[in-house]
Amino acid sequence: MSLTDNCGRPLLNLRISITQRCNNQCAYCHREGEVQRANRSAEKMTPEEIVHIAKVAVGLGISRVKLTGGEPLMRKDLPEIVAGIAGVPGLRDLSLTTNGLLLGGGMAKKLRESGLRRVNISLPSLIPETYRKLTGGKVENALAGVEAAIEAGFYPVKLNTVVLKDVNVGDVPDLIEYAAKTGTILQLIELDPINVSNKYYSAHHRSLEEQEQMLKEKAVQVEKRPFMHNRQIYRLPNVTVEVVKPIENREFCMHCTRMRVTSDGKLKPCLMRNDNLTDILTPIRQGASDEKLKELFVKANTLREPYNKSD
Ligand code: 5AD
Repeated sequence: MSLTDNCGRPLLNLRISITQRCNNQCAYCHREGEVQRANRSAEKMTPEEIVHIAKVAVGLGISRVKLTGGEPLMRKDLPEIVAGIAGVPGLRDLSLTTNGLLLGGGMAKKLRESGLRRVNISLPSLIPETYRKLTGGKVENALAGVEAAIEAGFYPVKLNTVVLKDVNVGDVPDLIEYAAKTGTILQLIELDPINVSNKYYSAHHRSLEEQEQMLKEKAVQVEKRPFMHNRQIYRLPNVTVEVVKPIENREFCMHCTRMRVTSDGKLKPCLMRNDNLTDILTPIRQGASDEKLKELFVKANTLREPYNKSD
């Protein structure tokens, strides 16, 4: 049994931002839709508080949890957070979105042993200059992270590529080939305007029509991912490519099954909005019962509505 919102959309996924800190500075980053604060350095939620929120969520039928940020690996206590959530009865999926830079040196293995099953690694380009220009970081470290993730047994390993006009559109064929070679899944993502300047958005937003056309021609099978925004999945002979197109996409919003938790402990029904948040961290700190915390989730769920509507 899961909660359903006023538009009939079930609530199945929770994305928890566990830090705003990051060791990259991606030009396009939406920061999970959080308004930037002056002090991004201090972690707001303890591992116990994060696990507590996940537990309440799973009790309401939210069976899939993703840890995001910022860069989740900036937190030294990430294995503890992972272990705590992985141990929640009823949880079906626990994953992590990371830039991969810190997955080497035994960290991937440690997270796998803590109960993490799969990871998404942000990889906007394979070309060192482009990667540096977009993120400030070194692509070889990200690729070492991809290898460490595969080695540690995460499955599937997904690569997230935000496709940007005049920057990395031309890199897509090489990324597809790299995904095929490494046995990873490539996700091509349309640029979202949230936390990105109008100037940047208009200069770099590009619809993924052309990529989809090319994928359609090469695919042996095309599917839709149920629930997860009805995203298109293209199965090529040697690789799978998913296409994420949120912009002015009613179907994307109609099949959204998510809620977010901000790094400062607020339930956030929509990536695109900050006017309908529900504080859950303060009640936890005040000793609210799990029944009360469930009520907060129920309230936040009633505030869920498709950002792009069919009117
Ligand atoms: N638009 C679309 N996707 C984005 N991501 C980050 N910023 C944006 C944006 N503005 C994706 C990255 C990252 C994931 C957490 O979100 O691919 O892997």
